Amino acid sequence: MAVREIVFLGDPVLREPTPDVEAFDDELKVLVDDLFATMAAAEGAGLAAPQVGVSRRVCVVDVRHVEGDHARIALVNPRVTEASSEREREPEGCLSIPGVTEVVNRPARVVVEGLTPEGEPVRVEAEGLYARALQHEIDHLDGVLFVDHLTPLKRRLLLKRYRKLREQEE
Ligand code: NI
Repeated sequence: MAVREIVFLGDPVLREPTPDVEAFDDELKVLVDDLFATMAAAEGAGLAAPQVGVSRRVCVVDVRHVEGDHARIALVNPRVTEASSEREREPEGCLSIPGVTEVVNRPARVVVEGLTPEGEPVRVEAEGLYARALQHEIDHLDGVLFVDHLTPLKRRLLLKRYRKLREQEE
């Protein structure tokens, strides 16, 4: 297991829709292990392959601290197949846009279908933070970032805050 470098907003890989995984080989297993290790090192709730510069449809989520032991999962070729009409507004952040958060409006409950890293079909029913994290990571696999869900004004203000933070770091 290796901690990989996380790429930041502005890297074009974050905007590429990812192709489905077709080979369930050792390279995939290493990628999944590394995603878990990188997410843990960054203390994140989820991480998608494009965030380590790999354009493949793979992500991990770990929100056990809030949702319980079932809420740690690696998903290959995941898709949201059902979403509740009820929505929730909660703050969200992203390891690729560090230091800023904003409230995002999303379906409160979702069903996600995909494959395990071993290639077995898996169906997840999720609510709360688990549902939010899954939607956020699956968005990444479609080249979508949480800032895309904000109103243009809120997005502009958040990106301004983010740029200011990054300038201060330099
Ligand atoms: Ni993210």
